[in-house]
Amino acid sequence: MCGIVGYIGKNKAKKFLVEGLSMLEYRGYDSAGISVVSDNIVKTCKTKGKIIALQELLKTNDIDGYLGIGHTRWATHGVPSDNNSHPHNNSSNTISIVHNGIIENYSKLKNSLEEAGYKFLSDTDTEVIVHLIDSYYEGNIVEACRKAVKDLEGSYALGVISSNEPDKLVAIRKDSPLVIGVNSDEKYIVSDIPALLSRTRDVYFLNDNEMAILTTDSVTITDYDGKVLNRDLVHIEWDLDSASKEGYEDFMLKEIFEQPLSVERTIGSKIKLGEKVNLENLKLDAKSIKNIFIIACGTAAHAGMVGSRLIENLSHIPTQTFLASEFRYQEPLVDKSSLCIFVSQSGETADTLGALKLCKELGARTLAITNVVGSSITREAMDVIYTYAGPEIAVASTKAYTSQLTIFYILALYLAEQTETLDIEKQENIKREILNISSNMKKILKCLDSIKNIAKIISTKKDVFFLGRSLDYITAMEASLKLKEISYIHSEAFAAGELKHGPIALIEQDVPVICVCTNKNLFDKMISNVKEVKSRGAYTIILSREKSDIDCADIILDIPDTIDILMPIISVIPLQLLAYYVTKIKNLDVDKPRNLAKSVTVE
Ligand code: M6R
Repeated sequence: MCGIVGYIGKNKAKKFLVEGLSMLEYRGYDSAGISVVSDNIVKTCKTKGKIIALQELLKTNDIDGYLGIGHTRWATHGVPSDNNSHPHNNSSNTISIVHNGIIENYSKLKNSLEEAGYKFLSDTDTEVIVHLIDSYYEGNIVEACRKAVKDLEGSYALGVISSNEPDKLVAIRKDSPLVIGVNSDEKYIVSDIPALLSRTRDVYFLNDNEMAILTTDSVTITDYDGKVLNRDLVHIEWDLDSASKEGYEDFMLKEIFEQPLSVERTIGSKIKLGEKVNLENLKLDAKSIKNIFIIACGTAAHAGMVGSRLIENLSHIPTQTFLASEFRYQEPLVDKSSLCIFVSQSGETADTLGALKLCKELGARTLAITNVVGSSITREAMDVIYTYAGPEIAVASTKAYTSQLTIFYILALYLAEQTETLDIEKQENIKREILNISSNMKKILKCLDSIKNIAKIISTKKDVFFLGRSLDYITAMEASLKLKEISYIHSEAFAAGELKHGPIALIEQDVPVICVCTNKNLFDKMISNVKEVKSRGAYTIILSREKSDIDCADIILDIPDTIDILMPIISVIPLQLLAYYVTKIKNLDVDKPRNLAKSVTVE
């Protein structure tokens, strides 16, 4: 969470700081601020609210200089307010810092700093860092930072400047992302690559427990003891267009419509009819894998749930999916014969990263499925499969999900080839259908009118329920998450067979129940469940590829036909669109829903 930026160079810092923050606003938008070294002091301008509020404030603030840092906040410690906004400064306004992460021992540090006479102006954990640096400062900001970080417990990406040393920008990283951008006469720090793309595509990735000292002409990366470390410059292939709205009203809509293309990119040359699956450099010996654990959060966990069903069904390797935040604390039975797969769009989710580190300690083989090249998870895992969905900016994940599902289809086939649990004809059929996903997606993207009509109905409701069985149940969970996170309508997904064990008590007159009925084998059972809710007054919306024999639906939404196991990647799309249109009708900010952030880099 939170986005940080920093600039040192031959041009004025403010322009890049604000531009960079706008690109990082998806990481948090509770407040925003910048500090710039100007006329030998640190000048800070910060405010509660989105970047637009900061831009307004900057119109009346003279804050020009060549060294600066900026921050967009997702509040952890302390409510969103002007005082709790970053940057935080020492009392003489000579040192200023921005922070992404959580300082776990901040209360102990705060007590001892207060005893030493330091006055705190905010409720944040971050403010202890700036006073700590101040307490160690003896004319060298790098040395003061080096000493201060040794006292910190928790996670942090930090940008630090001092007006006493206007020729240096210090960047520090532990368990929170930080990237350094370079061009000939400017150096930058950012939490995420899109913030750099308008300036440079040449970057250094900072690793955990490392610092970087940036000047206009150089970048020096060291460990916390000052030992200089060599680092290769990485050239980023993305361009700025892929991180802009390209004429769509919102990033979410653009990303939904991009899915036929992003899925094609994900497939790339990994599957071809009549050939073995090609997962580039991945060399797994499926026969030596005793069990597979898939670990992720949120939407990525839903992709993992589909993934575990596919892998188990096709390759017969026992596979389970866990929420990363739970997995870490349940003493998992992972050992060196386990394969642990970590799914994360951002590659930065703190719980997923923590679980990955744990599995490494337990000796497991680790594989990351991520979208962001060079992200923390990709650097920790032994193997990586990139989804190549392109930058996903909207907080609600859409194209990353369908690309993650695509990888799972391919991975399950790859493993099944080795375990020899699937005959050639079935393998070829699955491949054929995977290659056809994109055109099925396009068909759905043409059905906007019926989806908009359903959205009108849903937008007036307080509660919405989703039902499904088997893979359709996972689609129901994903659809429910999408709807609640952006429209703020209470929604829940139930396994249809569980209804009569409790949830059916919630059904009353006109409550919408969206029933995902795409599984051919389970269709009749699903329809029985739909009838049960219909006879209790529910307003039923059915997603189905069977058009006959449905007499219990208020609305039927046709879904293109494919094989059962591929239905999740198709049937989720109208439900993504539904969440989108409901939110638009309610006039809410689709891309930046309240209380959320794109990248959850705190536990
Ligand atoms: O970057 P990650 O895939 O690790 O993020 C995981 C979740 O935070 C993310 O999927 C979240 O649930 C989305 N807001 C859902 O739309």
